[in-house]
Amino acid sequence: MSNANIQAPKGTKDILPEDQPYWRYLYRIIEKHALKAGFEKIDVPIFESTNLFKRGIGEATDIVEKEMYTFLDKSRNSLALRPEFTAGIVRAYIEHGMHTLPQPVKLFYFGPIFRYERPQAGRYRQSHQFGFEIFGDKHAIMDAQIITLLWSIHQKLKLKNISLQINSIGCRECREEFKKELVDYYIMQKDKLCSNCKRRIKKNPLRLLDCKEEECVELSHGAPQIIDHLCGDCNQHFQSVLEYLDEVEIPYELNPKLVRGLDYYNRTVFEIWGGKEGAQNALGGGGRYDGLGEILGGKKLSAIGYAGGVERIIETMKEQGIKIPNEKNTPVFLVQLGEQGKKYGLKLAEELRNKGIGVADSLGKDSLKAQMRLANKKNAKIAIIIGQREAAKNTVILRDMEQGIQNEVPLEKTVDKIKKALKK
Ligand code: HAM
Repeated sequence: MSNANIQAPKGTKDILPEDQPYWRYLYRIIEKHALKAGFEKIDVPIFESTNLFKRGIGEATDIVEKEMYTFLDKSRNSLALRPEFTAGIVRAYIEHGMHTLPQPVKLFYFGPIFRYERPQAGRYRQSHQFGFEIFGDKHAIMDAQIITLLWSIHQKLKLKNISLQINSIGCRECREEFKKELVDYYIMQKDKLCSNCKRRIKKNPLRLLDCKEEECVELSHGAPQIIDHLCGDCNQHFQSVLEYLDEVEIPYELNPKLVRGLDYYNRTVFEIWGGKEGAQNALGGGGRYDGLGEILGGKKLSAIGYAGGVERIIETMKEQGIKIPNEKNTPVFLVQLGEQGKKYGLKLAEELRNKGIGVADSLGKDSLKAQMRLANKKNAKIAIIIGQREAAKNTVILRDMEQGIQNEVPLEKTVDKIKKALKK
């Protein structure tokens, strides 16, 4: 076996401690907004039966055709690492009989997804999504409500230059008519299409509209638009969604080429674009998927949802220089001297933590100088210094690191004194 260094698999990333504050901040904002809007958290397994995704997302999609991490377990069941959450959540809704709960059922989630894609900026093989799903209400105001929620989250994150792209891809009936017209249009010019689109022209013609290859983009300009083919009900639904968005003053761009890459959608589809140009910079996307419940073996189920890409949002925040609130987890640093100081320090630090005061330390070190240097580096506001003498007398020295003033304090007054000093 080679003893070369093992590296992280291609397309995966370590989330290092210096990045964690962004992750915590983003999660906090999402959770807070979701709970305040009546959404409840759901976790579903990281792997599911391969068939769930095949049936749910669609056999002719890029995800199912090329990107799934599929494997046989030891009982030879075919499983797949989830490439997205929605199919798993619909499965859970059906499996747990959530149709018996008061509708709509509103759920949110956060976690990793896996897609075997060609890694590039903003595109990974393991990435993370957060998302929202609303089940059991077909009213257009649900579409607007989910968009309002995620728009608020993006505002709260202070993301600049973001746009809401929106379209309707109608229902199965209006889409079938449209697909025929689309195939007629493209078949006449098949030679000009990229090889991928040549292949999917019959199987998945809608995707030709959002192909990023130059020659296909060119052709898409003259392609028929689905919006002209919507049936009365779908048209009415879409107009209502737009009216609600006008009401809450959320700006949107009508994008006739937005079709989304998963097969389960109907009617409203939307994406949030931000930062740089190009589809891999969609910060997130979603839409209505009223047919998925039935496809997965349940009853008719109205549903709408959205998922955002955590890495893409954090990268965009960094590019835009967005600062997040400073975390002051350990404003106190414990400095100890001698064996007695260590023992006393170990105990005291834990007591302070139990009382809600964050304490960093370096109990293994012996040198006062080295510990004070570390306290400075960690931006401690207060250092607690415990030597043999203090340990014997049941006192500590509290040092204000900004002012360089220090006082000896009886042990029983330490918590109060620190709390007061931290409030300043
Ligand atoms: P999606 O458009 O495939 O939709 O993914 C949503 C977002 O996840 C993307 O816009 C992107 O930000 C992020 N994302 C996806 N794949 C990657 C990747 N390889 N690397 C980095 N980020 C990625 C869905 O997954 C649907 N389930 C959304 C939905 C929920 N529709 C209804 N409900």
